Amino acid sequence: MENELVLEHINKKFDDGSLILQDIDLRLKQGTKLSVLGPSGSGKTTLLRLIAGLENPDSGHILFNGQPMNDCPPHKRNFGLMFQEFALFPHLNVFNNIAFGLKMKGMDKAQIESRVNEMLLLTGLTGLQTRHVDDLSGGERQRVALARTLAPQPSLLMLDEPLSSLDRVLRKRLLIELTTIISKLNITTIFVTHDHEEAFAAGNMVIVMNTGQIEQTGTPDELVQTPKNQWIKEFLGL
Ligand SMILES: Nc1ncnc2c1ncn2[C@@H]1O[C@H](COP(=O)(O)OP(=O)(O)OP(=O)(O)O)[C@@H](O)[C@H]1O
Ligand SMILES: [Mg+2]
Repeated sequence: MENELVLEHINKKFDDGSLILQDIDLRLKQGTKLSVLGPSGSGKTTLLRLIAGLENPDSGHILFNGQPMNDCPPHKRNFGLMFQEFALFPHLNVFNNIAFGLKMKGMDKAQIESRVNEMLLLTGLTGLQTRHVDDLSGGERQRVALARTLAPQPSLLMLDEPLSSLDRVLRKRLLIELTTIISKLNITTIFVTHDHEEAFAAGNMVIVMNTGQIEQTGTPDELVQTPKNQWIKEFLGL
């Protein structure tokens, strides 16, 4: 199936031998909005890093669009990854932050300008292109980070706790902004969080992780109505 992401029996150990991910199976059709929910240390970031190619599994396979990814380096996967700290380039303005990946791809000036403008429009940043990123609000910075991640047209978008550095009120507002933008795109999205309300708002499918394993998979409704065990119940605050 086109642009399907498949993980088969993924295992990952670290140097001390401890198992970080255990027998992870996952199959995501194009356009799926998946939330990965789990407590600190449950392996969420490691899972994203494996999909991005920043780590290799000890065993198991990752396939995208039918192609094995195991030996494909990160920059050739065409996946977009956005972290909690946004990691914008502080010496560059909004335009050049968004254009960064496009310049790396060797696109010409006119193409870059047209794509950046498209991204400014999508994220509601039109008019701010010459502003330095230090002079933006937290919400605007986040939208620049999203625009920069989406500009090279990744075929998969991964967000690792994109809101966790913000205060609660801002977090709620930005979650809505973020999910509204993403829902307009037919791009498979993996949203990592330890907050079940965020997970339920961001994903139509949720995997709950516990000590490196998928404890339960389901829609937000399924998880709330039929939590598989006591641990899930408590973790979801039911
Ligand atoms: N490079 C590494 N070497 C050894 N252990 C690691 C490494 N990276 C992560 N770990 C361990 O793997 C486990 C899972 O880490 P991971 O960062 O994937 O968790 P997480 O669910 O993202 O947690 P958090 O919610 O705190 O971000 C943790 O116990 C962590 O200490
Ligand atoms: Mg993490």
